Amino acid sequence: MIYGGGDFVGEYRITGGARLTGEVTIGGSKNAVLPILAATVLGKRSVIHNCPKISDTYCTIDILRGLGCDVGFDGHTIVVDARGIASHHLPEDLMDKMRSSIIFAGGLLGRFGLVVAHYPGGCSLGDRPIDLHLEAFRQLGALVEEEGQVIYARAKKLAGARVVMKKTSVGATQNAILAAVLAKGTTTIENAAREPEIVDLQRFLVAAGAKVTGAGTSTVIIEGVAELGDVEHTIMPDRIVAGTYLAAGAITGGHIRLNNVVYEDIKPIADRLADAGVTVTLEEKAVALAAPQRLAAIDYMATGPHPGFPTDMQPQFTAMLATAHGNSIISEKVFDARDKHVAELAKMGADIRNVDRKRFHISGVQRLHGAVVEAHDLRCGAALILAGLGAYGETVVGNSIYVERGYEAIHQDLQALGADVKFVTARSQNNPKPQDI
Ligand code: EPZ
Repeated sequence: MIYGGGDFVGEYRITGGARLTGEVTIGGSKNAVLPILAATVLGKRSVIHNCPKISDTYCTIDILRGLGCDVGFDGHTIVVDARGIASHHLPEDLMDKMRSSIIFAGGLLGRFGLVVAHYPGGCSLGDRPIDLHLEAFRQLGALVEEEGQVIYARAKKLAGARVVMKKTSVGATQNAILAAVLAKGTTTIENAAREPEIVDLQRFLVAAGAKVTGAGTSTVIIEGVAELGDVEHTIMPDRIVAGTYLAAGAITGGHIRLNNVVYEDIKPIADRLADAGVTVTLEEKAVALAAPQRLAAIDYMATGPHPGFPTDMQPQFTAMLATAHGNSIISEKVFDARDKHVAELAKMGADIRNVDRKRFHISGVQRLHGAVVEAHDLRCGAALILAGLGAYGETVVGNSIYVERGYEAIHQDLQALGADVKFVTARSQNNPKPQDI
């Protein structure tokens, strides 16, 4: 697959109407592989299976190589040898491309006592501060200075401490864990985020010789160890990709099965789908969905930290409820401005009132119509593709580069479920003939 950017641009062309049927297998989790790849700087040789081939994975590999690690990516297995790390400077251009690159800071600080980073870029979902990350480093004994956009953190040796998170943050929890793994003494993280990806990070670290317990609860305890060793790990399935495909099945009144899904991880999504009249059943390591011809509206729902309804599914649900029978309200409680899909959905005939960018009053219409729309971030792009699946006529979703950050081959998976979706690339300058892929 050609990754967006450079001299190629990509778009998805969807002709709506097919009821999805059939089954697909869910791949490895983006939001698990990124922190686990960052964690490899703490160890020696890490073999990691079930890694998604998405642009964020490639960007993270570039950062590891930039630090001096030896990295191979064969099939869905990544092998990292971190013994040759020679730099503690996270490159500005790569940090700017991907917000989650800040997750490297904790491991570098913990292992080498020094990291130079830059304020991260990434999807614009509103204000994305990193104060909780830096506060955690300070509580572990680091001197953290900021000069403009550059962050310098250093410590002779981090010392275990009680780290109280003022606000629940996935990334800050992960960074605090990574900084504490080699610290002297025991660290307790309170008000820790409980996402399943943090549990997967703990599994990886323990397999490498770290002493971490409590991931998945609000209190994580890390007993510092002298060093980590070699490790082999398999990344958990991507619960947001699974949720996205469930929403695709729901929008089209389909009957689909997803293999390689951890039901507990997607239960918050399945519970809300049930509110919309969709049946989601658990099978042996698979999940089956049966949707009605038309969904029921959901009077009120809100996003929140796990085990709440994931914010990464909010745009997809906004698209899904745009054609439900009745009025729905979705309240976005995690990010300040995760609403760029609303104006694009309006181009397709959706009737959504966007109240202070965090509360969406959705009046269900019978059906959307195709339009030319733009992805503005990863889940916005996914939501627009889903909207196209149920719409009359053709929908073109531009800026595939955002979707490719988190979906390995969304068009191929949806095609396998019977959808009419093409991924078309064109040379951004003078290539008159786009190529179908
Ligand atoms: C992770 O981002 C995910 N990314 C996001 O997924 C996900 O939306 C988010 O967690 C929430 O679940 C990865 O795991 C790579 P946060 P993260 O820190 O860690 C505020 C996707 O679509 N905050 O939990 O950056 C922040 O502004 C992406 O896959 C601070 O105030 O999210 C936000 O309002 C998008 N100070 C809230 O906390 C901080 O220091 C939650 O952010 C850090 C965060």
